[in-house]
Amino acid sequence: MGYSLGAGIGPVGTRDPFLITDEQLLQMANEIRERAYAPYSGFKVGAALLCADGTVFTGINIESATFTPSVCAERTAFFKAISEGYRDFVKIAVTCDKEYCSPCGVCRQVMSEHAPDLEILMGNPGGTFKRTSIHELLPEGFTLLGNS
Ligand code: THU
Repeated sequence: MGYSLGAGIGPVGTRDPFLITDEQLLQMANEIRERAYAPYSGFKVGAALLCADGTVFTGINIESATFTPSVCAERTAFFKAISEGYRDFVKIAVTCDKEYCSPCGVCRQVMSEHAPDLEILMGNPGGTFKRTSIHELLPEGFTLLGNS
């Protein structure tokens, strides 16, 4: 499988985002999910964010003993990508160990700002998933940059 993560996890660029299938993106989220640091909730989440040039950034949830600093898998993936200079995002796959995990309100706000046309795949290790979009999950998101 060409997109298996292996030991040295880093962005994998294909130059064409359409060469990466939904199933491959979900698989990347499932693989990275194993690395989630969730000793308090026990709820491991993985994410794989597809950029417009085909690069994929993965993310996991990372919890803290003081709870507040904990970060979701989706934001980990976004912040890794943004800090590496990536700005154009196509799709994110999010996986967890129940049927699907719907991104929290804070992640929706971040997605809405950085990827207003983002497609979202919410899946599980079994391979089934639900397709949605940030338009659907956060209509009329807050912005300081636009008119609303
Ligand atoms: N979590 C995510 O990583 N993504 C979501 O979309 C929802 C929740 C994490 C946060 C926390 O570490 C654990 O799941 C339980 O809430």
